[in-house]
Amino acid sequence: PVRHERTSPYDDQRPGPGGLRKKTSVFESKRNYLQNYIQSVLSSIDLRDRQGSTVVVGSDGRYFSRTAIEVIVQMAAANGIGRLVIGHNGILSTPAVSCIIRKIKAIGGIILTASHNPGGPGGDFGIKFNVANGGPSSDTVTEKIYQVSRTLEEYAICPDLRIDLSRLGRQDFDLENKFKPFRVEIVDSVEVYLNMLRGIFDFNAIKGLLTGPEQLKIRIDAMNGVMGPYVRRILCDELGAPANSAVNCVPLEDFGGQYPDPNLTYAASLVESMKGGDFGFGAAFDADGDRCMILGQNAFFVHPSDSVAVMAANTSCIPYFRQMGLRGLARSMPTSTALDKVAKALKLALYETPSGWRFFGNLMDSGRCSLCGEESFGTGSDHIREKDGLWSVLMWLSIMASRKQSVEEIVKDHWAKLGRNYVCRFDYEGIEPKVAFYLMRDLEAMITDKTFTSQKFAVGNNVYSVEKADNFEYIDPVDGTVARNQGLRIIFSDGSRLIFRLSGTSGGVGATIRIYAESYERDPEKHGRETQAVLGPLIAIALKISNIHERTGRRGPSVIT
Ligand code: G6P
Ligand code: ZN
Repeated sequence: PVRHERTSPYDDQRPGPGGLRKKTSVFESKRNYLQNYIQSVLSSIDLRDRQGSTVVVGSDGRYFSRTAIEVIVQMAAANGIGRLVIGHNGILSTPAVSCIIRKIKAIGGIILTASHNPGGPGGDFGIKFNVANGGPSSDTVTEKIYQVSRTLEEYAICPDLRIDLSRLGRQDFDLENKFKPFRVEIVDSVEVYLNMLRGIFDFNAIKGLLTGPEQLKIRIDAMNGVMGPYVRRILCDELGAPANSAVNCVPLEDFGGQYPDPNLTYAASLVESMKGGDFGFGAAFDADGDRCMILGQNAFFVHPSDSVAVMAANTSCIPYFRQMGLRGLARSMPTSTALDKVAKALKLALYETPSGWRFFGNLMDSGRCSLCGEESFGTGSDHIREKDGLWSVLMWLSIMASRKQSVEEIVKDHWAKLGRNYVCRFDYEGIEPKVAFYLMRDLEAMITDKTFTSQKFAVGNNVYSVEKADNFEYIDPVDGTVARNQGLRIIFSDGSRLIFRLSGTSGGVGATIRIYAESYERDPEKHGRETQAVLGPLIAIALKISNIHERTGRRGPSVIT
C-alpha cells in the first residue's frame, strides 16, 4: 500500500556541509518538512540505482530521531529501496555509518544528527546523506537534492509499515507492489565498527598500556551523545580501561542540556577533571562521534592541527599504516601548516582543501591521501570516509604505547623537530547575516586589491608584510570540480596567516564569522609561550582590517579556541 501524498515545496532545504540542519521545531511543526526532504534525498538517487539497493540509517540519539526513522522506513519502502540497515534503537555514530556503508556496499546512508549542536525540542535537528564511498555527499549531489526540494509536489509513503527498532535482526515486509519484498535489518550499533578497529590497531598493545603495571589512567567523556556505547564496549570491555574511565556514557535525547561539542569551552568538565593530574589522557566526543578533543595530563591541550601532524609523523606505530604505507596527507585550508612540515619531512604530497570532510573523499578514493585532519576537531584516515573520534583516541593511545611517552612529551618532541605552529580561532556567533555578508565582501575587495600585496603592517616591534592574499579556491585534482569562495586568506612573508570565513554549519539563527591566526616558530626555546601573546599582533591586524567590532557591535568573539 504505497500512498502518494500531495505536498508543497520549501525553499530553504539546501543542505550545508553537515547536511540539512535546522531548529528541531522546524522539522516538528512545519507541515511535511521532514517528508519533503527525505523525498528529495531519495529522488536524487536514480530509480534504477534505488531499486533493490541498501541504505544505512543511524542517529546520534537526539530528540526526534525515532520519529524521523519511522518516516524514513515508510518512505524508503515506498520509493523502492530494497533494504535498510538500521542501528539498534536507531543508534549509530557517524564513523560507524561510514564504516557499514563501505562494508556492505550500500548505496548510501542517512544520518540523523546536528553534530555538535545542542539537541532537544529547543535545540537543533539535522539530516545528513552520505554516499556510496561512505562519505558526505559532494556538492553536485547536494545541489541535486536542493533542486528537487524546490519543486517537490508529492512524496511516496507506506503509512502502515511499522518496525521495532529494539529487535535485532531481520524484519521482512511484503508490500504487494512492484518493489517487493522490503527488508529491514536492525544491527548492533558497535560490532561492525569494532571489528574494523581490530584490523587497524594492535589491541594488545593498547590493552597493555591501559591495564599493565604502569597503567595509564584515562578519562573519556561521551558528552551524553552517541559515543557512550562505543566507549564502554571498545575502551572498557575490549581494551580494559576501568569502567570509571568513561563518563556521560548514556545517550540522552537532549545531551543533558549541554552542548555536545568537544572543545575547551563546552567540554569544560573534562578539562576540570584533567587538571587534577590523576589522568594521563583525556578525550571528549561530539554528539555523533566524528569529532574529538585530545588532552594530556594536567589538561595539556592538543590542538587538532597538531593532533593530525603528530599522527602523520608516527604512523609507524600502527599496523594499518605499516601495512598500507602512507600515501599523501591532507588538511583543510584553515588548519595549521604543521601537517605541511610533516609532509615535507616524509616527502609526501600535501593537499590543501576547503573546510568540509567531503573534499577528502576523492583524494582517498583515488589513492592520493591516507591521513587527513581539520582544525574543527576532526582527524581521520582512509579506513572510512568520515572523521573518526574514537579512531583518533586509539591512534593516540597506540602512539603512547609504542613511544612510552606522555601526550605532552610527544607533542613537545614533535615541535622540537619540526617547529611549532601557534594557532588560534576567534568565533563571532549569531551575527546578522547581512552584516556578515557585507563585512566579508568589503574585506575581500580590500585584500584582493592590487595594492594590498605591497602592504606592511607594524604592530609593536613586529612588521608583517603581505605576501599573498586571496579568496581561497580549490580545484579537485581528481575530477576537476572547482570550489570557489572558500575563505579569505592573507599570507605574510614569514609564513604567518590570517584567515576569515563564514561558518557553513551554524544551523540556528544568524551567521558565524571565524577568524584564524597562525604563526610559525622554529626555535625550541620559544615553544613555551602563551598563544594569545604570540598571536596578539596578528589578531590586532585582523580586527583592524575587518573592522569587525564596529560592524557587528561586538566587543569580542563568543568563543576563542
Ligand atoms: C562540518 C564538517 C567538517 C567541517 C566543519 C566546518 O563539521 O563535517 O568537515 O570542518 O563542518 O564547520 P564550519 O562551521 O567552520 O563551517
Ligand atoms: Zn560531528
